[in-house]
Amino acid sequence: MPDSQARSRAVRAVIPAAGLATRFLPATKAVPKELLPVVDRPVLQYIVEEAAAAGISDVLLITGRGKTGMVDHFDRQPYLESRLEAKGDLERLAAVKHTSELAEIYTCRQGEPLGLGHAISYAESHVGQEPFAVLLGDEFVDTDEPLLPAMLELQARTGGIVLAFLEVDWAETSRYGIASVEKAEAPLAAGVAGTAGLGDVFRVTGLVEKPPAEKAPSNLAVVGRYVLPTEIFDAIRRIKPGAGDEIQLTDAMALLLAEGVPVHGIVYRGMRYDTGQPLGYLQAVVQLATKRPDLGPAFTDWLINYVTNDLGGTPTTD
Ligand code: G1P
Repeated sequence: MPDSQARSRAVRAVIPAAGLATRFLPATKAVPKELLPVVDRPVLQYIVEEAAAAGISDVLLITGRGKTGMVDHFDRQPYLESRLEAKGDLERLAAVKHTSELAEIYTCRQGEPLGLGHAISYAESHVGQEPFAVLLGDEFVDTDEPLLPAMLELQARTGGIVLAFLEVDWAETSRYGIASVEKAEAPLAAGVAGTAGLGDVFRVTGLVEKPPAEKAPSNLAVVGRYVLPTEIFDAIRRIKPGAGDEIQLTDAMALLLAEGVPVHGIVYRGMRYDTGQPLGYLQAVVQLATKRPDLGPAFTDWLINYVTNDLGGTPTTD
């Protein structure tokens, strides 16, 4: 790629978080699903932490009605901070301050949730002329197996769009955007190659939103991390509502692909937490609780005992 040296790495992230979260009703009637706690942090904090760990310090939240609490979570709380300080509770004080130090948080409102592509269109004036990352508000990956740095690096080298793929059961293709691919000529660069959890890099030849198994071109599902060029905004304007009668990001990316914009994807085999539906949410809570140095040992002992004695199961180690 002759001009690869000239491209800069994306430094902004957009988090669409205006959805109605119907899968979690009634919990999400008044509380945004992004603020549901996983152990002692809301889901959204894990996502902003993932962006910050990848060097992104400018985060635009696309919010909607009843979602302003999300912004408060990343604000200072001087009264609470001074109370904790007076009590000498320095650990909680640090935890409370930490959220306001992660990134510069900006917001804008998506008046009506008309689809993921529609949500992303609100980011146009904020991101300017630079490529940007999109992190969906209900999934995140393990800090030990980061995905975003490799995606940002690949996009800076190849331009265009960079995606991440999960190899899903064929029965699940109708829940995701699905890609057809061929082997890429742009493997991971030295700095990120070998990162735990990262698999092959592919060049994408086609994208389709939520196809049934018999129509899916592969079982490579697009996960909720994207690095996009600014051309995406014009593409979103040019597409019509697609699957579910929504303005789909997948359709806008497919349009750019058809027009010659390079699209690459990295297979992700690390730990991805999907908190967008109750089962995945419960799994994330249990998995992350067992990993916590403070709670993990006691919680794991209780869990093994509960599964063995109360549920009568035999725990396995994998
Ligand atoms: C969205 C995208 C889909 C992607 C998925 C990842 O779907 O439209 O292409 O595979 O996120 O989680 P949603 O889950 O919002 O229906």
